[in-house]
Amino acid sequence: MSTNAQLRLDDKDYSLPVIRGTEGEKAIDTRKLRADTGYIAYDQGYGNTGSCESAITYLDGDNGVLRHRGYPIEQLAEHSNFGETAYLVIYGELPNATQRKQFGDLLRQHAAIDPQMQAILQGFPKDAPPMAMLSSLVAALAAYYPQLATNNFEADLKNFDLAAAIAISKIRTLAAMIYRYQNGLPYIPPKDVPFCDNFLQMMFSELYKDYVPTAEVSRALNTLLLLHADHEQNCSTSTVRMVGSSAANLFTSLSAGICALSGPLHGGANTAVVQMLQSIHDEHDDGTRFIAAAKSGSKSNRLMGFGHAVYKNFDPRAKIIAKACDDVLDKLGINDPLLAIAKNLEQAALKDDYFLSRKLYPNVDFYSGIIMRAIGIPVNMFTVMFAIGRSPGWIANWREVAANPKGRIYRPRQIYCGPVKRDYVPMAQRA
Ligand code: SDX
Repeated sequence: MSTNAQLRLDDKDYSLPVIRGTEGEKAIDTRKLRADTGYIAYDQGYGNTGSCESAITYLDGDNGVLRHRGYPIEQLAEHSNFGETAYLVIYGELPNATQRKQFGDLLRQHAAIDPQMQAILQGFPKDAPPMAMLSSLVAALAAYYPQLATNNFEADLKNFDLAAAIAISKIRTLAAMIYRYQNGLPYIPPKDVPFCDNFLQMMFSELYKDYVPTAEVSRALNTLLLLHADHEQNCSTSTVRMVGSSAANLFTSLSAGICALSGPLHGGANTAVVQMLQSIHDEHDDGTRFIAAAKSGSKSNRLMGFGHAVYKNFDPRAKIIAKACDDVLDKLGINDPLLAIAKNLEQAALKDDYFLSRKLYPNVDFYSGIIMRAIGIPVNMFTVMFAIGRSPGWIANWREVAANPKGRIYRPRQIYCGPVKRDYVPMAQRA
């Protein structure tokens, strides 16, 4: 295997080092390309460019492989839960009993939102997009915990464990608080119960009648959040790293990640999938007409929940969620017509050359909304659920940036394609 890449430019020969990851991934190290050759590499959207070396998540898009710190997602989905997987993603090892208890205790100690922060919510219109409210409130954490958000890597790393637990726990509680506010319901304080059960009781309890989730619902939510915990250098995670590379604190960087996730091509897809399924249902289509339109190639007719920038095979999370869908709806005795439509779409697409030739398969968002509907989570909260699940991955990536002694601020270059040099034209001489 080559240890160097040979490059010939303008009659000069260059040798660029090759980097290889622990799973055999190969990269040409172009860090000196511009200094040595005067050329930059150009890769719109960075689809073929590595921005960092990371030890958190390994993806093999061609073979549908996803591992967190070496553990296959299938095994974590079967044996772990969100809290344990969050610890693994952040700290790199499965926690022992003491570590797991300490982490859980920190999450519970910091679950509540203080009244002054609750008051911020009153400043938003009730029908404001939940992700806009969440990103604003998470950014506000830097104002409420300035000692954890000094914008100094060394100081903020010293307080990392506390800041990380506050971030994960508060993002979950803020999500429930936003739901309550949007529905004209009072804030429900957290209880001394497990993470996901606490979220559900803060969403659905009334002030005096406690909501206690069934074991099936609690398990389904743990699995759903766990499956979203991290996913390599996706759009929102790269955004967290980009913002964190300026030495911005954890809360500020997470707020930027939430903004990136809100886009329909990224985390907003789970909402778009259910809206797509609902419109197919309302038009009494079994999906056949929609599939035909989705092959038009227009971005507005896309089969949402299908396709992926990395997976050119099944997204392993989609397979796990599809099975969990059947289990949860069966156990809850729910017959959701949207699930039948989703299955029709999947079966039709997986036999259609348009999708097969473009390697378009179901991704994590294709079935996740069906489970959230079954749990009672409204469509406009689906992407917020994705943010709760992704918070450990964002936090782990921020920490890699902050702790990297050789780290630099992220500052990509460009190819300028605007007007060449020209002189100022006084107003009187303009057309
Ligand atoms: C997530 O990066 C991550 O890891 C993200 C994520 C995570 O965990 O963080 O996995 C979460 O964001 C999952 C993706 C959710 N988004 C959607 O489901 C939206 C629908 N999917 C597409 O918009 C699209 O597939 C993307 C954005 C996901 C990926 O886009 P690519 O890889 O840049 O593909 P592309 O836009 O270049 O399209 C390639 C071809 C085009 O056709 P041609 O021009 O070759 O004729 O495939 C077509 C596209 O028109 N195409 C689709 C399609 N997706 C791509 N056609 C119909 N339906 C689709 N869904």
